[in-house]
Amino acid sequence: MPKDLRTYLEQLERDKPEAVLRIKKPMKAAYEITALQRKLDAMKKYPVIIVERPILDDGTESAFPVVTNLTASRDLCAQILDIDPHRVAMQYAAKVSHKVDPVVVPREDAPVKQVVETGDQVNLLKFPILTHNYMDPGPYIGTGFVTTTDPESGIDNTCLQRIWVKSPRRTGLWPAVTSHTMNNLRSWWNRGEGMPVAVWIGHHPAAVAGAQSRLGYPESHYPSVGGVLGEPLRLVSSETFGSDLMVPADAEMVIEGYVPKEVFEAEGPFGEYPGYIGPQRPSNVIEVSCVTYRKDAIYHGIGVGLADHLVLLGNFPMEARIYSVVKSVLPELMNVYVPISGRRNHVYVQVKKTRPGIGKEAIMATLPCDSRLKHVIVVDEDIDLFNESDILWSIAYRSQWDKDLVMVKGAAVFPLDPSLPSPGNIGTRGGIDATMPPPIGNGLPRFYQMVNKTPDDVASAIDVEDYVDLDKANGYPGSY
Ligand SMILES: Cc1cc2nc3c(=O)[nH]c(=O)nc-3n(C[C@H](O)[C@H](O)[C@H](O)COP(=O)(O)O)c2cc1C
Repeated sequence: MPKDLRTYLEQLERDKPEAVLRIKKPMKAAYEITALQRKLDAMKKYPVIIVERPILDDGTESAFPVVTNLTASRDLCAQILDIDPHRVAMQYAAKVSHKVDPVVVPREDAPVKQVVETGDQVNLLKFPILTHNYMDPGPYIGTGFVTTTDPESGIDNTCLQRIWVKSPRRTGLWPAVTSHTMNNLRSWWNRGEGMPVAVWIGHHPAAVAGAQSRLGYPESHYPSVGGVLGEPLRLVSSETFGSDLMVPADAEMVIEGYVPKEVFEAEGPFGEYPGYIGPQRPSNVIEVSCVTYRKDAIYHGIGVGLADHLVLLGNFPMEARIYSVVKSVLPELMNVYVPISGRRNHVYVQVKKTRPGIGKEAIMATLPCDSRLKHVIVVDEDIDLFNESDILWSIAYRSQWDKDLVMVKGAAVFPLDPSLPSPGNIGTRGGIDATMPPPIGNGLPRFYQMVNKTPDDVASAIDVEDYVDLDKANGYPGSY
């Protein structure tokens, strides 16, 4: 059986039932599901959430359940990809570079074609599309993989784009100027034509991870989906564009349509991933021609701006990209971590400090890897890269800002940052080299102080369980 969203959910509920929260009570698609997700996020709890009876904006119960928080837990996301959560950078990079070509299946073998609706039959508002934040103008699809083509080469591109469902057959689309979707849009419009588009929703989370990998242009993401999924992605022709635009046969639903030439409408405001409300902007639209879906489609929603949005869909691809690029010029690179706390503005980079200068080289090599990076923090190999207390300790005791800080003023930055002058996308990027000086010569010890520890023989003889009832330990006062 091909891998898809439901094979994943079945396996998870069977093998790890404690990882799934099934909600049988009705919950509104507008705000309520996100509010619950937000409360669990504050508790640092990340179950996959299945809402069986979502309520639509018109007060009726949707025929389709919602799954959300699918990609919120770093451990679960790593498990999906069969990689170590502390070695995502190198192991996910290897997965993405391993390509497995897709296969084409006939229409009758494609579950996503079980229901086909065209023209006036289309009503996107019957799906339980979530409204997330208080200023959002309506429901937004946050897990829509937008597949378009470069009209010159015919090569497809896929990536996540938020999609505001404005009415039954009309949506917004906001491709950033730097996105490959925008390259395709420009090319179609230059030819005087609207851009064909297919938006697919709901697939195995490994397929989702492959589709969101950061690649060159023009380069199809479908072989990377196969590489990460561990089997060829099954494709089927779209209804509107035939084999010119292929879509995943095992998705839960596909929306097809055109992005009409030079049509702009207001889009947003929208609660963005940094945690702030982003501005309203003129943006593109999709005129929907057709929707196809499974009879019992599961709608995949996302916790916008929460870990669900950040971990697998943004930070894993960033870690992999930074690792591949920086490692090629700096073999001393050991690991990379893009923490949720920095919401993509921060990256922690670990190096083996064998000679002076490596920390600064790491900052210089890392910054261009992703336009969203603002601060690079470079640490030594003895630091636990995934423990933010250790990172702050490195900054506190292994850096002198007059010599270790790198600042690049007047750099292009991601505009969703309220510390920027408004309006602005020029700011300061940089980093701090929080690594110790290297040994003063080959074979010589480092000259800095040793780290505190109890004598090894005492430490190994003390067993916490001899003194502490671990069942009660959760109730002990914390230290923060
Ligand atoms: C939930 C989510 C929503 C996103 N929405 C948008 C969007 O509306 N517009 C955009 O340009 N990028 C958006 N992104 C970021 C793109 O998916 C990402 O930059 C991608 O790598 C661009 O790929 P491309 O260059 O192949 O087009 C979103 C990412 C996530 C995880």
